Amino acid sequence: MYRVIFFGLILTSFISMAQMPSLSPPVDPPGNASTPEKVKLGKILYWDEQLSATKTVACASCHILSSGGVDPRSSVSNPLSTNAGFDGIMNTADDITGSMGVPESGADGNYIYNPLHGYNSRVTGRRAPSSINAGYAPELFFDGRAGGQFYDPITNDLVLISGAALESQVLAPPTNPVEMGHNSRNWNDVVNSVKTSTPLALSPLVSDQMSQWINSQNYFQLFKKVFGTNEITAPKIAMAIAAYERSLYSNQAPIDAMIENQDPSFLTLQERAGFQLFQSQGCNTCHSSALFSNTEFQNIGVSPNAEDSGRFAVTGIEADRGKFKTTSLRNLQYRTSFMHNGRFSTLEEVVDFYDRGGDYANPNLDTRMQPLFLSATQKSNLVAFLGRPLTDPRVTNETGPFAHPSLYAGSSREPQITGAGVAGTSAKIPQVTAIEPPLLGNQNFTVAVENALSDANSFFVVDLADPGTTALPATGLNYATKQLSNTTDGHASLSIALPSDTAMIGTTLYARWYVEDAAAPNGYAISPLIEFTLFAASDYVYVDSFED
Ligand code: HEC
Ligand code: HEC
Repeated sequence: MYRVIFFGLILTSFISMAQMPSLSPPVDPPGNASTPEKVKLGKILYWDEQLSATKTVACASCHILSSGGVDPRSSVSNPLSTNAGFDGIMNTADDITGSMGVPESGADGNYIYNPLHGYNSRVTGRRAPSSINAGYAPELFFDGRAGGQFYDPITNDLVLISGAALESQVLAPPTNPVEMGHNSRNWNDVVNSVKTSTPLALSPLVSDQMSQWINSQNYFQLFKKVFGTNEITAPKIAMAIAAYERSLYSNQAPIDAMIENQDPSFLTLQERAGFQLFQSQGCNTCHSSALFSNTEFQNIGVSPNAEDSGRFAVTGIEADRGKFKTTSLRNLQYRTSFMHNGRFSTLEEVVDFYDRGGDYANPNLDTRMQPLFLSATQKSNLVAFLGRPLTDPRVTNETGPFAHPSLYAGSSREPQITGAGVAGTSAKIPQVTAIEPPLLGNQNFTVAVENALSDANSFFVVDLADPGTTALPATGLNYATKQLSNTTDGHASLSIALPSDTAMIGTTLYARWYVEDAAAPNGYAISPLIEFTLFAASDYVYVDSFED
C-alpha cells in the first residue's frame, strides 16, 4: 500500500517535471543590453541610500535580498509598518502592513509633522513585492501600472519601446514622498542627489571586488565607464538599476535541482506530497511556469474591492476591480507578510485562506476560488512545499548575484538615542528623531522633536560631551533655536550643518533638545541623548565575499 502511494507521487512529480521548463535569465529590452559593468553600477545605485531625500532609504531598504527581495520589517507585529489604509484611521480592520519609507519632508530638508506618523517614517499603502525575479512580468506593481514602454521622466521622450517594465518601475520610488522623496521632489532633484554623492559613501561594508571597481571614482566617472559619457541622467539611472534587477533571478532552489536532474529526491516526501496538492488543487493554474506566476491579474478576495481597486485603477474596466498581479511563489520561506496588504504573517494563514475559498465574495471573484476542504496533513504538506523547495539558498545566504553592500540604516553609524530625558508638562519627555547620516560635512543634517509643550521656545544643542540634563547649557559646538508649533503636541524640525574638518573624522558628538517648560524641574523639558560619530565618505570597510 505504502509503495503504491510512494510510486504514484514519484510518477506525478516526473510528469510535471517534464512539463516545466527551468527559469532562464530575463530578457533585456531592446536599447538596454545588460553588461557586467552596468549591473555593478545598478547594484551601487540600488544599495545607495543617498538616492533618497533624507539619505536614509535605498531601494534595498524595502527589498532586502536575504528576505526574498521583500521587507523583513513589514509585519503585523511591527506597528511602525502599519498604514491606516482606505479609511485613513489607524488600528481598524482595513489597516495595511507595508514598508517604512521616509519622514514627510519639504524641499528644504526639514521634516513636516505628519498627522498619522508624526516624524516617524511614513508607510507604503501596499506590501513590497519581491525585486528578485521581477524581470519576467510584462507589467509591474500589484496593479501593473509600470508598463513595458519607458519614458524619460524629465523630457517625456520615449526611450525604450518595449519590455522595459523594470526601467519604468524605477521612476516611481525616488520621487514618492512616502518612499524616498520629499514633497514635490522631481527627477531633476534625484539626478542631483546622484551627482553630489560619493558612491556608497554611507555603506559600512563593501566587498573588495566592489570597492576595487569603484576605485575611489565618483558617479560621473562610473557612468562614463558604463555608458561611455559622464552624463548622469534619469534614464541611465533607471537602466542601470533595471539591469541589476535582471541579474537577480533565482533558479537554484531544490525544485530546480529536481527538474534539472529529473530526480524527485531533491524534495522530501512531504514536500512532494505538497507539490502534488499544489497541482491537484489548481494552484498552478495561476502560479504557473517556472516563475510560479502567470503574471496576470486575478481577484482572489484578499480585500474588499472598495478598499483597493487594484488593476481597475489602471484599466478603468469594471471587471478588473479588485484584481492583483499573481505573485511568484519563489523565496517565500523567510517572509513575514503575505498578499498586497500584508494581512497574513505565515504560509499557514495563506493556505487556510485558500482552503476557505478566499474572503470577500464579489462579482469579480475568480471562479477557481472555492473551498478546498483540505485535511490538517494536506495543509501542512502544502505549506512544506511553499517553503524550502522554492527557496534558492543563494538568496538566503546572500551569495552569487545576491551578495551586496550593507545599508547605513540600522548600522552603528546611525545616531543612537539613549538614556532618559527630563519630563515637562503632562509628564511629556521630548521625543527626538535623528536618523540622517553623520557624514562629515553634511550641510543638511535634519532632526526633529515632538511630544513637548506647544508654542514653547526650544534649543537644540550639539557638543563634544553630553550637554546634560540639569540646565540649558550656555554654549555648544552647534546651538540652534526653534519655536515649537502651536498645536496640542509641540513639535519642530530643523537642519544643521555638521563639521567638515577632516580632523573631526571619528569624533563622537552628543546632542539634546531643550524645551522651555515651567512644569519641568529646572524650567526645561529635555530629550534623551543623541550620540553620533562623524564618518568620511571613503570610510567603508572591505569584506571578502563571493560577489563577482
Ligand atoms: C519604502 C519602501 C520601498 C522602497 C524604498 C522601494 N520600494 Fe519597490 N516597492 C515597494 C512597494 C510597496 C511596492 C508595491 C507597490 C504597488 O504595487 O503599488 C513596490 C514594488 C516594486 C517592484 C514591482 C515588483 C512586482 O512584481 O510588481 C519593483 C521591481 C520594485 N519595487 C523595485 C524597487 C526599486 C528598484 C526601488 C528603488 C528605486 C524601490 N523598489 C524602492 C516598496 C518600496
Ligand atoms: C485564480 C488565481 C490563483 C489561484 C488559483 C491561486 N492563487 Fe495564489 N495568488 C494569486 C494572486 C492574484 C495573488 C496575489 C494576491 C494579492 O496579493 O492580493 C496570490 C498570492 C499567493 C500567495 C502570497 C504570495 C505573496 O507574495 O504574498 C501565496 C503563498 C499563494 N498565492 C499560494 C497559492 C496556493 C497554495 C494556491 C492553491 C491552493 C493558490 N495560491 C491559488 C492567484 C491565485
